[in-house]
Amino acid sequence: MGLSELIHRGQKSQPKPLRYLLQQQRLVFLLIGISISTLIFSISSYSSYSSNQSISSTTMYNSKIPTISREPSLAHRVNLGGKVPLGLKRKGLRIVVTGGAGFVGSHLVDRLIERGDSVIVVDNFFTGNKENVMHHFGNPRFELIRHDVVEPLLLEVDQIYHLACPASPVHYKYNPTNVVGTLNMLGLAKRVNARFLLTSTSEVYGDPLEHPQKETYWGNVNPIGVRSCYDEGKRVAETLAMDYHRGAGVEVRIARIFNTYGPRMCIDDGRVVSNFVAQALRKEPMTVYGDGKQTRSFQFVSDLVEGLMRLMEGEHVGPFNLGNPGEFTMLELAEVVQQTIDPNAKIEFRPNTEDDPHKRKPDISKAKEFLGWEPKVALRKGLPMMVQDFRQRIFGDHKDASSSTV
Ligand SMILES: NC(=O)c1ccc[n+]([C@@H]2O[C@H](COP(=O)([O-])OP(=O)(O)OC[C@H]3O[C@@H](n4cnc5c(N)ncnc54)[C@H](O)[C@@H]3O)[C@@H](O)[C@H]2O)c1
Repeated sequence: MGLSELIHRGQKSQPKPLRYLLQQQRLVFLLIGISISTLIFSISSYSSYSSNQSISSTTMYNSKIPTISREPSLAHRVNLGGKVPLGLKRKGLRIVVTGGAGFVGSHLVDRLIERGDSVIVVDNFFTGNKENVMHHFGNPRFELIRHDVVEPLLLEVDQIYHLACPASPVHYKYNPTNVVGTLNMLGLAKRVNARFLLTSTSEVYGDPLEHPQKETYWGNVNPIGVRSCYDEGKRVAETLAMDYHRGAGVEVRIARIFNTYGPRMCIDDGRVVSNFVAQALRKEPMTVYGDGKQTRSFQFVSDLVEGLMRLMEGEHVGPFNLGNPGEFTMLELAEVVQQTIDPNAKIEFRPNTEDDPHKRKPDISKAKEFLGWEPKVALRKGLPMMVQDFRQRIFGDHKDASSSTV
């Protein structure tokens, strides 16, 4: 007897209305099953999302940053439930700070640890220093990895602050890491669905033809000069970030940082504030390039860190100018240094460097409106804190970096 015959007979043996009812019942059971599993999945996703939200709200409250209620993005809604196994509660955000052993990065790490997050610093110590983060050694919420960001890296994290990049002319000419490093970190952000913040720079405006500079200004950059690897590198980094945002749905944030100073700056890296302070302390003449009438604005590092954290926690991609709109000529800056350190400090003029921008001053209306941020520390108030730190480091009155926490 063939199989088809058996089926045929079996079907024949059931009365037609009964068969119809059984088929209907199966369908109903199937529908009920689907509904129950959908309900369970939604509840677990929601509870995992809301526990994350409440943690970040509490920690933000602790760090004095206003709580910004945020609708989860599509990517977050889809992935958060899956990333944390059911039953495991997250204690804080897991954050990578590339370049976290450097000047800005180490102050950012201090704030994140203080807020209750777990921080992984990734740094190759090209311009950074272990001493800048040593005061966190032994803290279970802190990890330090020696790694060059031009090589890929896989870490499970919620946020990536990407700062790794030599930031002063004497260093970046020897080690342009902007493009490959940014690409790798964007790849990581995409892979683990982390939010990514790029520390770009006011150098993207080049020698600006618009003053002060708004974020809408596209800049005036020499693409083949000695500074181009940095300026154009950061411009490409911004482009990559936006492409990952548009093309792969990565949540990106872009900060355009203007000149920043403060404790833990590299002492001899050729940046103007650190140069003047170190020279005045060593009783050497302060070197002014060109006629000293070129202008810059100087932001204290704690103001910048506050701006970066607000940007990361907020809803806006940017780019945002983060800088102090107070504008000083180099000669005025030298005068403030004289008043703070040594009224007899001398000034020595040298020929100007190639492609040195004539003026620089941020328009920060966008950051004020969307981040509720503006700098609070004036140059005359911030400089003494930096001088104290430089004095300790130059004259060997060495304390650990926690004493230079701002
Ligand atoms: N400080 C400013 O005035 C200023 C202005 C504009 C933009 N920025 C940007 O802010 C970020 C931090 O600047 P900073 O002033 O703290 O400089 P910094 O030199 O003190 O810090 C940079 C850190 O990145 C690390 N680093 C460099 N290349 C790396 C690599 N390939 N892999 C891993 N780590 C690497 C260095 O060792 C250092 O710890 C930089 O991206 C810089 O371009 C700073």
